Amino acid sequence: MNTIAIYSSKGGVGKTAAAVNLSYACARRGKKTLLCDMDPQGAAGYYYRVRPKSKFNRKKFLKGKLHSFIRETDYPYLDLLPTHFSFRNLDLALDREGSEELKRIFSSLADDYDYLILDCPPNMTLLSENLIMAADQVVTPVIPSTLSILALAQLVKFFDKIKADRKKLHGFFSMVEGRKNMHRDTIKRFAKKKIFFRTMVPYLADVEKMGITRQPVAATRPGSPSAEAYDRLWMEIWKRSSRK
Ligand SMILES: Nc1ncnc2c1ncn2[C@@H]1O[C@H](COP(=O)(O)OP(=O)(O)OP(=O)(O)O)[C@@H](O)[C@H]1O
Ligand SMILES: [Mg+2]
Repeated sequence: MNTIAIYSSKGGVGKTAAAVNLSYACARRGKKTLLCDMDPQGAAGYYYRVRPKSKFNRKKFLKGKLHSFIRETDYPYLDLLPTHFSFRNLDLALDREGSEELKRIFSSLADDYDYLILDCPPNMTLLSENLIMAADQVVTPVIPSTLSILALAQLVKFFDKIKADRKKLHGFFSMVEGRKNMHRDTIKRFAKKKIFFRTMVPYLADVEKMGITRQPVAATRPGSPSAEAYDRLWMEIWKRSSRK
């Protein structure tokens, strides 16, 4: 099983949009995929029209008995582990357990899934540390601006601080608007850096409309530029994961 965390300490950079569309791209290729919604806002579950079972909560999650709470989506090979409001305090609960607790919890799924995709909440806490430690790859969306590049540099430092393997960290340019000078300049300076995937996800109305369609873009608009972008991004992630 391969675990891919879609993570950034910054909010609103396209993590959930990526997690939703990448998990669809993965499942469409016949890989058994579980999208784990680790953000108590529950956006990933919302996009897939999946609600948690009423008895699910943080305590049950931490006990590691995940199977009975996993829900099917409308798509073959794709399941979802919904979040719960109580996940907002996961940090406090993890405090006693250290940084490898989530890795241990997710390992119970190893026989059931080829890929675990984690939609992470925007912060830099013990939960983030756990999510990074549990992941084989950490994929971070970067809006092409000076502040986002700064956030990426901070993330690299955070990896060093928690002794995570930097080689598993990759960025991609997200919500790219070619008409903006700042975006063009940032891409020109940084796109060739090894840490970045080649694929960039443009700012496109189809992605915004997922809030209305509540489906991945490749389900509503197959072959559209947004669907193609996430599919190409998935292929880059997949290629790295198959080198494991
Ligand atoms: N490529 C894109 N083009 C246009 N809109 C986008 C794109 N990616 C994301 N959005 C929109 O931007 C908003 C934030 O995206 P998203 O929820 O994926 O970010 P996030 O990083 O998960 O945010 P949060 O930190 O709050 O969880 C959403 O309204 C989403 O529809
Ligand atoms: Mg999100």
